[in-house]
Amino acid sequence: MRLDRFLSACGLFSRREADAAVRTGRIAVNGEPVRSAALHIDPDRDAVTLDGLPILYRRFLYILLNKPAGYISATEDGRFPCVTELLPPDMQKRGLFPCGRLDRDTVGLMLLTDDGALAHRLLSPKHHVEKVYAFSCTPALPPSAEAEILAGMPLGDEICKPAALLCTPDRCGGQITLTEGKYHQIKRMIAALGSRVTALERIAFAGIRLDADLPRGAFRPCSDQEIERLRAADIEKGEIPWTSCKHSPRS
Ligand code: URA
Repeated sequence: MRLDRFLSACGLFSRREADAAVRTGRIAVNGEPVRSAALHIDPDRDAVTLDGLPILYRRFLYILLNKPAGYISATEDGRFPCVTELLPPDMQKRGLFPCGRLDRDTVGLMLLTDDGALAHRLLSPKHHVEKVYAFSCTPALPPSAEAEILAGMPLGDEICKPAALLCTPDRCGGQITLTEGKYHQIKRMIAALGSRVTALERIAFAGIRLDADLPRGAFRPCSDQEIERLRAADIEKGEIPWTSCKHSPRS
């Protein structure tokens, strides 16, 4: 694999940035600084370093993207641009897909990965993965809003799981923490409270927070600690495997 492709597929750089990193001597292969991004390496055998620190070729990629408005949470769409188009082509070729959906006009934290099993677990309703949204709305929310959301709001034929609402002092916005993801859930919950969402941003997912300095449309790889968090978020709350066992252990 070409070195620039390797660096880009690892989620560290675009191909152009990878080229610049190589030209400025930041990349070494097996201890030797390299000067050509076209060098061929074997990701399983060669030791590649950036500024002296090892770069691991990961089996799976976990990318945190700051989704801008106007993009669809999908890999293909006939009408609108997709969030995956914000990634460099090498990363797109790895088959990354968005873990969950945000509406086209919703902005903020979107996890993209090629780890299908983990994405499936993070999105399964059996798991209680927290998603935190900041929103603005008009008119102001009624005094009963916190209690209604905490009790589990009826939406059509369904009842939402209990969620947490923290209002701004003017009650024209705040933060909502959900542990599920129904269609247009926040917009519908706010509408059921007699108001209308005017802006919506996801600011945290599974304990990972959106960086304040990551521009809209930009992305970064998740840190090792964040990947651990994602894996830990995949635990069913309140259900330790052996307590759900249908059979008594043999004595
Ligand atoms: N709730 C919504 O209404 N829209 C989103 O994009 C996410 C949560």
